[in-house]
Amino acid sequence: MSYELRFSISSLLILISVAWLYRRSLGNRKAEKPYPKSLLKNGEAFSESLYYQIKPLRNFEWRNTNPIQIRPFKPKYHLTMALENTTISELLDVDKTYLDRIRLRRQLIKDHGNIVVDANKKIAPAVSEFYTWMMGTYLPLRYPTMFQIVQNTSMVPKQRSQPLLTSLVTRETIPIRPPSTAIEALSLLGSHIDTEFLFLLPSSDPADDGKYKLEGYVTCFPSGFDTRKKINLTLADIHTPVPGYASKLEKSMDRFFATLPVGKIVKRVNWSVTTNTDLFALGGNHVYEGEDTKYESIDLEKTVLRCERQTLHRLPESKALVFAFKTFQYPIRQIKEEGNGEMLAAAIEGLSDGSVPRMAYYKRGVVWGNAVREFLRS
Ligand code: HEM
Repeated sequence: MSYELRFSISSLLILISVAWLYRRSLGNRKAEKPYPKSLLKNGEAFSESLYYQIKPLRNFEWRNTNPIQIRPFKPKYHLTMALENTTISELLDVDKTYLDRIRLRRQLIKDHGNIVVDANKKIAPAVSEFYTWMMGTYLPLRYPTMFQIVQNTSMVPKQRSQPLLTSLVTRETIPIRPPSTAIEALSLLGSHIDTEFLFLLPSSDPADDGKYKLEGYVTCFPSGFDTRKKINLTLADIHTPVPGYASKLEKSMDRFFATLPVGKIVKRVNWSVTTNTDLFALGGNHVYEGEDTKYESIDLEKTVLRCERQTLHRLPESKALVFAFKTFQYPIRQIKEEGNGEMLAAAIEGLSDGSVPRMAYYKRGVVWGNAVREFLRS
C-alpha cells in the first residue's frame, strides 16, 4: 500500500472517530437536559438548571436598602417591546419598603378577592410549580438574611418530613409544598413578595392560533386597570386600551411569547405620571378612547412618577409564562430636586412626538401635562 493511501485511510479513520465521539457527546447532553425543540431559538441552549443558578445576597439588609431609582424617560416616546436580558437572580427586587408594602398587599388580598387574586383550573400546575420553586429554592437562596428553610417540628409524622420556609422578617412559617388551591398559593406569594405575578398559557381554542391568554394572577398594585377583566383574554385583548398596540406591538409580542425559551429571562421598565399615590388603582390613571378629559385640580405634592420593573420568563415544567412586575413611585418634587426635572418635562412633551402620539392621551398627559411640566421647570 502506498504511503499516500495509508495516510488518507488513517485520516479518514480519525475523522470518523471524531465525528462519532462528537455525536455521542451531543446524545449525552440531550439526555441530561431535555428541552422541547420548539422553545430553542437560534440554537441557543438555555438550560433548565439556570433556575437553580441563583446568586445569594449574603449580607443583604432590606431595611437599609433604598428603592432602585428608575428614570426610563426619553425625549420621544416610541412604542416598542424594549426588552433586555436579565438573570434569574434578578427576578425579584427587595428594598426598605418591603414590610409596609406586604402589609398593604395582605389587606388588599383580604378586602378585594378576585380583583387581586384569581386563577383558572388549568393554571394550577404552573402555579404549584412556581410556588414550590419560589418558596423552596429562590427566596432562601437569594435572600438568606430574610428567608430560611427550617425543619418541620409538627407532631404529625407525615407533616414532619415537609420542610418549611421561615420569614425572618415577619417570623412566620410558610409551607414549601403548595397549598391545595392555586388561589391560596397566589395569595401566599402575594403576601410575602412585593411583586405581581401573572400566569399565561397558549389558548386551547384553535381559532386563537396558539396566542397566549391570562390564566391566573396576583395583582395588588394595578396601575389603573382591573385584572379581573383581563383574565381569559389574549395579549392583544388585554392591551386593547393601549393605543398603537395592534399596529406596533401585537405581532412581535405574539411571536416573542410563543418562542421565548426556558431559561431566558427578560425585563423592561415603563413609566407614567399619576396624580395620586394609590398603589392599588383600578382606574383613573388612563384616559380611554371616547372619554372626556375633564378639568381636574392637581395636587403636585401627591403627583408621582410611577414606574414598573417588569420581567417575563417561562417555567421549565409546565412551560407557562410568568409576567411579573414591581411598582415604584417617586415624587415629582424629588425628580425636580435631583435635577431631572427638564428631562421629565421633555419626555412628557415627547409623548405626543413619538411613534404613537395618542400615548399622551392614554397616559393622561392631557390632564396633568401642563401643570407637571410647569412645576418641573419652575
Ligand atoms: C413583556 C411584554 C409586554 C409589553 C412590551 C407590554 C407593553 C405594554 C404597554 C406599552 C402598555 C401601556 C402602558 C405602558 O406604558 O406600559 C401596557 C399596558 C398594559 N399591559 Fe402590557 N406589555 C407586556 C406584557 C404584558 C402582559 C404579559 C400582561 C398581562 C398578562 C400585560 C398587561 C397589561 C395591562 C393590564 C396594561 C394596562 C392596559 C389598560 O390600560 O387597561 N402586559 N403594556
